[in-house]
Amino acid sequence: MRVAVASDHGGWQLKQQVVEYLREAGVPCTDLGTYSEEAVDYPDFAVLVAEGVRRGDYDRGILCCGTGIGVCIAANKVPGVRAALCHDTYSARMSREHNDANVLTMGQRVIGPGLAREIVRVWLATEFAGGRHARRVDKIRDIEARYGGPGAGDACGTPGCGRELNKGGSQRGGGLSLAG
Ligand code: RB5
Repeated sequence: MRVAVASDHGGWQLKQQVVEYLREAGVPCTDLGTYSEEAVDYPDFAVLVAEGVRRGDYDRGILCCGTGIGVCIAANKVPGVRAALCHDTYSARMSREHNDANVLTMGQRVIGPGLAREIVRVWLATEFAGGRHARRVDKIRDIEARYGGPGAGDACGTPGCGRELNKGGSQRGGGLSLAG
């Protein structure tokens, strides 16, 4: 199994721990950066791993940032990538068994290196369960296909497609209004 690993500055220390763990465990891994604690932008590193996994250069990816959230959001923009933010071993196992996650994300400001190593161990060791879960993962692919055509990312003019929801801004930034 080939694993790509990357982080921003906020996850750099944790990424170093992950790389060390993978090398100790004999798992072939490629460190795609960042290589210091100098400030960088997490999407730039998330996309390196996500596109590598999409192309098939790597079987799995592991991303770290301060919270694990930013790299997770960014990686999930790449079609074919199913990135899961896991800060416990149960979630790590389930993200593989049920969701066939191919990218794991973690936050250096959230968990310590010991737990992170255990999460990585469980995540790499767990197989996708398939069966009814495969049908659900296929439905995720269907969603990607619906938004992946030419012009994806633009506002959509087709009523009912979902992408028109943000038009006019009525749904934007307003939060949930709970009338009493
Ligand atoms: C960097 O300060 C921080 O925003 C980043 O590491 C990550 O936590 C974003 O989600």
